[in-house]
Amino acid sequence: MRILIVNGPNLNMLGKRDQHFYGSKILSEILEDVDNTGADLGIEVKHFQSSHEGHLIDFLQRESPFSDGIIINAGALSHYGLALRDSLTDTKLPVVELHLSNIYARDEFRRHSFIEELAVGQIAGLGWKGYSYALESLTDYLKSQGA
Ligand code: DQA
Repeated sequence: MRILIVNGPNLNMLGKRDQHFYGSKILSEILEDVDNTGADLGIEVKHFQSSHEGHLIDFLQRESPFSDGIIINAGALSHYGLALRDSLTDTKLPVVELHLSNIYARDEFRRHSFIEELAVGQIAGLGWKGYSYALESLTDYLKSQGA
């Protein structure tokens, strides 16, 4: 089983961003933890970060044919990125939407996500551990679907 973990704009700046919302861990530390979870689960994990919507779309188009599911923290693109949303739909893969912060307890504009409607589920507000929770949940989901 192969799962893509996609991080969008500004997530390369974790550790320097508002720690009240995003915590103190940097992205490479979070991804190392997810890689360990993937190894424990026997799952191949491939991750990618970009602050450019087109680069995220290129990655999804390139890698999704060889993958079983997607975990995505699209950052602010979650709230307005229609081209990214379309490319997620086009993959036809199950998607778990992820946010470090609880987007429903913040600014009004963060309360709507264009990804939530196509996602099989969402994890928001559980901080860096949410990445491993998402991997465990998506793995369970894929197994339940016979993958
Ligand atoms: C975020 C929430 C988004 O609203 C914000 O634009 C981000 C990070 C999160 O992980 O909590 O960049 O996706």
